[in-house]
Amino acid sequence: MNLWQRLSERDAADEADPPDRNKRDDAVARTSFAPRLDVILEIAAVTARILLDPRVTFALAIAVVILVPGRVGELITAFFVAVGALLVYRARQWRRIPDHIRWLAWADLNMPLMRRLSLEAPGTYAHTIAMANLTEAACNAIGADGLLGRVGSYYHDVGKLRKPQHFVENQPRGRNPHDKLKPATSAAIIRSHVRDGIELAKENGVPRPIRAFIAEHHGTLPIAYFLAKARERDDSVNANEYSYPGPIPQSAETAICMLADAAEAKVRALADPTPVAIRTMVEATIAQRMEEGQLADAPITLRQLSIVREQFVRILTGMFHGRIEYPSPVRPMAIAPKRDSRASA
Ligand SMILES: [Fe+2]
Ligand SMILES: [Fe+2]
Repeated sequence: MNLWQRLSERDAADEADPPDRNKRDDAVARTSFAPRLDVILEIAAVTARILLDPRVTFALAIAVVILVPGRVGELITAFFVAVGALLVYRARQWRRIPDHIRWLAWADLNMPLMRRLSLEAPGTYAHTIAMANLTEAACNAIGADGLLGRVGSYYHDVGKLRKPQHFVENQPRGRNPHDKLKPATSAAIIRSHVRDGIELAKENGVPRPIRAFIAEHHGTLPIAYFLAKARERDDSVNANEYSYPGPIPQSAETAICMLADAAEAKVRALADPTPVAIRTMVEATIAQRMEEGQLADAPITLRQLSIVREQFVRILTGMFHGRIEYPSPVRPMAIAPKRDSRASA
């Protein structure tokens, strides 16, 4: 029996006795290790935060001086003082270790919200993974927290889970629910993915620094397409009703996420993504966000923005490189086994 026959048999069996989706989801939830991994890493992060604090080490040294007299006490005290001094010296590098342990749990793509995103909004999921690569590379290149940038990017659009079909990346060709809606209604739906995302993230215990990416990734930008559509009908519409709630990015990581979000989407929409077209689009996107004042609160310099731009161009050019054209596939009929004329008679 060939593959096509096996698949059609399985489809026929599923149609006759459809699998119970609720039962399957329950089974996934019971067997998933993700929530416990999250708790374990959270405890490990708190422990690391205590152990990597030089104040703790110096306090231990003082306690040993008081409680352990003699040679042994002196040796233990000297050990704690040396460790404390090393922690102070390495403070800038090691300060991120506890946070990194926390983010590792949320970097797991098997976490419930990520699994839902991949199944219920596959277009958003693909966009999320692509722009997470951009954010992480750019954050690392300027000395910001690359892992936080990656994880924050994973969650930035989870609010789209509430109405995935209203976002262009999840729409099958020719089916756009906004065609039947007023511009104000459409804008309200698009805008609500920020608020919905924060709600979903809170319900799932996503930490505040990751939730900041949801709130800040659109800043206070206008929802330009529907604002223009509304102004075609009525020139006096209130632009605030067609803008995202903000705030604008408050950290280098969320600012880079905002830029990666726009750059990835715009380059994906290019009809012919040549290296020159990609570079032009990335430069225009960053310049536009600066002119709109969206980067005003983010601790990021012009020099760092030029490094971010180069990282985006490098990765996007790699993502959208030209492919050689494959020969047209052989039609299934041509490889199907010949029927036995006696059996069909
Ligand atoms: Fe978004
Ligand atoms: Fe996005």
